[in-house]
Amino acid sequence: MKRDYKALLNPALQQIGVYKVEGGQEAEVKLNQNESPFDLPAWLKEKILDQFRQEPWNRYPDILPYRGMEAYASFLGIPKESVIMSNGSNEMLYTIFLACLGQGRRILIPEPSFSLYEKIALLLQTQVVSVPMHSGLDFDVDAIIETAGREKVDFIVLSTPNNPTGKSLSHTEVERIVEAADAIVLVDEAYIEFSREESVLDLIDRYPNLIVLRTMSKALALAGMRIGFAISNPALMAEISKPKIPFASGRLAEITLVNVLENYTLVDEAVAYILGERERLQTELRGIAGVEAFDSDTNFLIIRVADALSVFLKLKEAGVLVRNVSGYHLMENCLRFNVGLREENDRILELLNKL
Ligand SMILES: Cc1ncc(COP(=O)(O)O)c(C=O)c1O
Repeated sequence: MKRDYKALLNPALQQIGVYKVEGGQEAEVKLNQNESPFDLPAWLKEKILDQFRQEPWNRYPDILPYRGMEAYASFLGIPKESVIMSNGSNEMLYTIFLACLGQGRRILIPEPSFSLYEKIALLLQTQVVSVPMHSGLDFDVDAIIETAGREKVDFIVLSTPNNPTGKSLSHTEVERIVEAADAIVLVDEAYIEFSREESVLDLIDRYPNLIVLRTMSKALALAGMRIGFAISNPALMAEISKPKIPFASGRLAEITLVNVLENYTLVDEAVAYILGERERLQTELRGIAGVEAFDSDTNFLIIRVADALSVFLKLKEAGVLVRNVSGYHLMENCLRFNVGLREENDRILELLNKL
């Protein structure tokens, strides 16, 4: 008799679920995926499409997207051997985890953090060691260092600024962890452009165990193009590149990235706008009875209300989609929403005031 098909699958599938965006991806006012409210201007899209038309669509792109990698390395002012581009930073997370994790390995993840870390780790049958944030949602740096040593973890992942809490580690705190840890440390800087804290990119030469992860989906407003990067010293990069899916980035993504980097004032202006609106929102939110607004170093805000599910549903009914993050450790009755256009921000303020 043949075995049931389930017995033939990776047993870790029993521990994980399909990735979902709760509430969906459609709404009149969509603030639930930490996207940029600004699409590229039409003139730049035209320029990108003109260049894309000249490409041979019947030919494979480069094995790795070297044009995009050279452009980003030169933008950062670092050697091209230190960067690798992926189809969104999610793909890079899979690549790095495949290179570093597996049965018998241990990963330290501060809790709460980006859900994909735990999912990929479990899939790779890696033991997860969680370190809770402080009750105000800040990182507990001493506990991270102490636990990493005691539990002999092989890998530490730090999302800073952190999704879903919005809180950051300082440059000094990251360096303390990287220095102390007998582990690879992956620092996911998806939201770094919005942070008051400095990037730790300058540390890649000094620490052979450090990898920095970046995405073009947030400040660069290219979530639809799927572009991410890992950055490390060239020796470590050569190793973590080995499991990379070949030809994973298409020609259009590379051309788009080159053009956006050439027009970076667009990004600077968008970031300045988002930071201004973030402060305005925070001040206004703090004036609303029954709403607790946390400090944020990202393009999104976290608020605590009396009944998050009921507020989530009422906002949704009124056409405003936010993320109910109440299920995360320490985030009971919390909602997350990204900074939108001015009128979208006014709309959510008005609704929260009413509710
Ligand atoms: C911390 C963090 N890392 C990575 C990602 C994934 O970004 P990408 O669109 O590059 O796959 C996200 C997306 O929300 C995120 O919040």
